[in-house]
Amino acid sequence: MKLLVLSRKPGIYSTRRLREAARIEGHGCLVVDPLRCVLHLENGAARVRVAGEDVAGVDAVIPRVGSYAVEYSLAVVRQFELMGVPVLNSSAGIALAKQKWASLQTLAASGIPIPPTSMMRFPTHLAATIENLGGAPVILKLLRGMQGAGVMLAESPQAAESIMDTVWSLGEDILAQKFIAECRGRDVRVLVVGGEAVAAMRRTAKPGDFRSNIHRGGAGEYVELTPAICEVARRAAATVGLRVAGVDLLESREGLLVLEVNSSPGFQGLEEATDRDIAVEMIRSAVKMVEERSGAEKVGGRRI
Ligand SMILES: Nc1ncnc2c1ncn2[C@@H]1O[C@H](COP(=O)(O)OP(=O)(O)O)[C@@H](O)[C@H]1O
Ligand SMILES: [Mg+2]
Repeated sequence: MKLLVLSRKPGIYSTRRLREAARIEGHGCLVVDPLRCVLHLENGAARVRVAGEDVAGVDAVIPRVGSYAVEYSLAVVRQFELMGVPVLNSSAGIALAKQKWASLQTLAASGIPIPPTSMMRFPTHLAATIENLGGAPVILKLLRGMQGAGVMLAESPQAAESIMDTVWSLGEDILAQKFIAECRGRDVRVLVVGGEAVAAMRRTAKPGDFRSNIHRGGAGEYVELTPAICEVARRAAATVGLRVAGVDLLESREGLLVLEVNSSPGFQGLEEATDRDIAVEMIRSAVKMVEERSGAEKVGGRRI
């Protein structure tokens, strides 16, 4: 098969591993920067051109959409969908995962346990909201943050107010969330591939931090995939509409809570912590998706 990985960074670990895994599995693999894709809509047909040439004959697309130029990257993924090419994660799923509040709404609506979370836009609503979340300290998250950037711990209502005022004055939104104190600096990252949990690691923050993101210096270690972890991760990914997802969980006193669902999870830390070949799992999942949709047409001039 001919697989196309959409990635802005061909050199990073996850992209390199995907290319390698495709080769090992006997498939062709092209890595294309979505921003190098020129999109055409004309006469009812959708086309993608790279370096002046129509992209044709692609069996499946594996989108890896980071935090830069999300809109454009999503337009590229959607273009392939219009062309009838199976994509491992849909543009709709990726778009939802990129919106923190909308994802939490969707998870909550499906009965998936999340930490109590609030959003507001006036300082006058703050005191009662924090009270309702169990009082300070309280977690604050910029709606547009990721990899731990934009996640803060406000030690007092005054601290929360000054942070929120600053964010609001910049025209940004921010949510307030109950600080699950027993999980300070620890969470579980689960990788879902093909709709099922395939590996998990416990992440521990570097000393002094409450955020366990690997990008913030957190360390990962193997953790067993219990039926409870598998079930909540599988449901969270499915609810957001993703075949491939990195689901962040807190092991609270009351049970597992979903923090967020990431649509393009890096997997270096996870492969190192678990010895699982995540890249091969993802390639196999893409191939399986194509086989399941074997009637689907290939790239090229399909009418919308
Ligand atoms: N409500 C919370 N209680 C305790 N720790 C939290 C809470 N929310 C986030 N954290 C910590 O902060 C980290 C980053 O939060 P997360 O919601 O996953 O945002 P990001 O998109 O930046 O990764 C988590 O991995 C976890 O360690
Ligand atoms: Mg996270």
